[in-house]
Amino acid sequence: MSCIAVIGAGYVGLTTAVCLAHLGHQVHCTDVVADRIATLRSGMTPNVEEGLGELLRQGLASGRLLFSTDNIEAVRNAEFTFLCVPTPQGDDGRADMSYIEQVATQIGPHLAPDSIVVNKSTVPVGSTRVVERVLQRSDISVVSNPEFLREGSAVHDFLHPDRIVIGADDEGTAMKVSGLFIRTSAPIIATDPATAETIKYASNAFLATKVSFANAIAALCEAAGADVRQVVRAMGYDPRIGSDFLRPGPGWGGSCFPKDTAALVRIAEDVGYDFGLLKGVITVNQEQRARVVAKAIRMAGGSVDGKVVALWGLTFKARTDDLRDSPALDIAQKLSAQGARVRAYDPTVRHSLDNIEICDDPYSACANAEVLIVATEWDELRWLDFAKVGEVMASRTIMDARNLLEPSMLYELGFMYEGIGLA
Ligand code: NAD
Ligand code: UGA
Repeated sequence: MSCIAVIGAGYVGLTTAVCLAHLGHQVHCTDVVADRIATLRSGMTPNVEEGLGELLRQGLASGRLLFSTDNIEAVRNAEFTFLCVPTPQGDDGRADMSYIEQVATQIGPHLAPDSIVVNKSTVPVGSTRVVERVLQRSDISVVSNPEFLREGSAVHDFLHPDRIVIGADDEGTAMKVSGLFIRTSAPIIATDPATAETIKYASNAFLATKVSFANAIAALCEAAGADVRQVVRAMGYDPRIGSDFLRPGPGWGGSCFPKDTAALVRIAEDVGYDFGLLKGVITVNQEQRARVVAKAIRMAGGSVDGKVVALWGLTFKARTDDLRDSPALDIAQKLSAQGARVRAYDPTVRHSLDNIEICDDPYSACANAEVLIVATEWDELRWLDFAKVGEVMASRTIMDARNLLEPSMLYELGFMYEGIGLA
């Protein structure tokens, strides 16, 4: 079992830390946000993530999981130091490397001799070399180990990965890193750092492409009188296509697809390749958000000025409390800019948000609403009392941007209903 430091206790770092402790390693996880560390020490998770709380409390009880704000103390005796800090989108679309560089500068002199720095943050091709340069330590190996977990199933994804990618300069170092992930039968792709970094961006960009493709086909279905649900279902049976990531919706969002697709366009530009395909994927995504807004306005009679619009779901997808680059928020702001009063319900959101009234339950969000938009696919929304929803609304009108609800039941109750890509 190894002694491991994890720098950054966010979605990726915290999952990495609790799962590595669960696998038997001694883990010291740090963050600059003292409140976050205090919450974690008390056994509470700062974010909604299935299974994380249980493993966190087991790790704390076993003594194998420590939390602090002290990066230097964490790395002093660590055989492996995982970097899990943000790489947000910079003003020019490129990934902002300043968090990584700042941590590398700080820990460089204090890393245990001959230890290994493992970068899990999503970073531009060539970043492993940047970290090496900043560390200024010839005895330290720097490895790229991109993370493929999804929020909402982060623990499961970490413990049961489809593949483990390790970008290292020598086989011995790659073997040492792969040895940390005991009890997984996932294929290990040991490669060079630049290839590992490219695999991460290519994977996210491909998944975003699939969703944008489904959204484009949905637009076509609406115009052609076809049903996208059946189109993608039939497509998905072909194993060369696969059924995952073909659900049309309000467009993809979250902390990763938007920034990683933008970054890959810039990475390509920097090496002289015009990634027109990916630019199109991004454009389709922006159009999709606008299409949802336009539909809702049309369904509300051509204008939402001075009208109440109800919004169910605010997070960028279900099973997470993450609001980063959520299509729902974008839609709410666009409607608000058109004069709408937006009343929203989301099972994970209680704090106030600009231009959005947060309601305690889905029914009160619908009070006096001209139109209800379903923006996030929370399962609980399927099973509500829609007769009651209809009674409190000003008009029985639903724009279901996730194709979540059962249209026939709504038609029976006298609703006007539209989904995405439905005939
Ligand atoms: P996050 O914002 O949730 O967490 C990052 C954490 O790092 C924050 O809590 C922040 O306070 C902390 N931090 C910042 N500077 C620090 C420092 N100097 N020392 C210690 N802690 C510091 O971000 P995230 O979603 O976990 O993403 C981290 C990286 O992983 C990004 O590059 C992202 O693209 C990548 N990634 C994210 C996911 C995901 O599902 N969220 C999946 C795969 C890869
Ligand atoms: C995504 C990838 O799935 C992970 O493999 C990756 O590790 C991660 O990004 C990352 O690099 O951070 P995540 O952002 O948690 O994970 O969310 P996804 O489940 O991929 O969904 C992304 C967006 O696409 C969401 O807005 C979701 O609603 C949308 N989506 C997804 C659809 O609209 N339709 C689909 O069929 C699938």
